[in-house]
Amino acid sequence: MTEQEIKAASKKFEDLIREQSERNDRIKAEKEFKDFKKLDKIIIGVCGGDGIGPVITKESARVLEYLLQDEVKAGKIEFKVIDGLTIENRAAHMQAIPDDVLDEIKKCDVILKGPTTTPQQGDGLPNIESANVAMRKALDLFANVRPVKIPEQGIDWTFFRENTEGAYAVGSKGVNVNDDIAFDFVVTTTEGTRRIAKLAYEYARNNHKNKVSIIQKANVIKTTDGKFLNLCKEVGKDYPDITTDEWYIDITTAKLIDEERRKDFKVFVLPNLYGDIITDEAAQFMGGVGTAGSANIGKNYAMFEAIHGSAPRMVKEGRAAYADPCSMLRASVMLLSHIGRQELADKLEKALDICMFTEKKYAITGRDTGCTCEEFGNYVMETVSKL
Ligand code: IPM
Ligand code: MG
Repeated sequence: MTEQEIKAASKKFEDLIREQSERNDRIKAEKEFKDFKKLDKIIIGVCGGDGIGPVITKESARVLEYLLQDEVKAGKIEFKVIDGLTIENRAAHMQAIPDDVLDEIKKCDVILKGPTTTPQQGDGLPNIESANVAMRKALDLFANVRPVKIPEQGIDWTFFRENTEGAYAVGSKGVNVNDDIAFDFVVTTTEGTRRIAKLAYEYARNNHKNKVSIIQKANVIKTTDGKFLNLCKEVGKDYPDITTDEWYIDITTAKLIDEERRKDFKVFVLPNLYGDIITDEAAQFMGGVGTAGSANIGKNYAMFEAIHGSAPRMVKEGRAAYADPCSMLRASVMLLSHIGRQELADKLEKALDICMFTEKKYAITGRDTGCTCEEFGNYVMETVSKL
């Protein structure tokens, strides 16, 4: 390795420190959460996304429009369709979120977003950042809340995944020092950790869940995960009524398949990448990633989506019409709750529990052995309208 290579890499690291320091200042300057009660009108943006995105987004938007119809008529809620969050348009602009699309998004209060395709090395698409990751950063959606419940197995988990830091903060800005050595960076900030921990503990307290588990790998990733663990524990001290425990990510993945032990988990708080991985595992127990919704919460904005991707394979195999809308419908429950429409959120959740867990009149299999996305949407509409 040459001195020049070391210098060039050091300069890139220096730039990242400055960039992250600015982000840290912005977090510190943040105000309170937006108070939806004070808004005359709430604007819900709807972005279909790519692949199966438009198919599943359509069903959940339909159910939301039905539930909110009176408020739409009264001018208290507005739905706004935002086009342009497609891989074709993003590739044409060479931007994770084209500027004009982001401007439209920023005019909304909350977003219902279908999955978007993320280019990866070797797939022939330009190397643009994931639209999810970009949106989380642009709107500072620091908390990724992912509930997974399976009543008959005693599973009722809520994951609080830190959503803007960790391995994702500068995920697209790693450094190839030369052909031999590459570095990526993991970022943990004090305020960034405190705010996610606080949200997890507040949620636990408000929902009568008496345990928060801090998941990390502080025995190896000592600096950033160590900081995350210590700060979460510190926040936990303000909640003496809630038990805090701590687990390494590797053993957590094992305990989640231990049918006896896994019932003990309630609320999890964890860094970005571990949260990404483990929530797919957790969703699989519930019936697959197609069944789990995801809320991305920030102080000013919030975005609600499926936990999974755009499933290009399903589209290629002609199975898009059989995609499972439950992920987006579960996300819609969280959207309603977030904008303060708790009664409607409860109603939709109840309808989904009936359709997914108890009555199960239609089965979604992702192929023509089950019902279509639209048929399931109709089933949910029918069920919710009877409640
Ligand atoms: C998720 C997804 C995204 C992530 C991808 C699409 C970038 O897997 O929301 O969990 O890694 O966060
Ligand atoms: Mg994921």
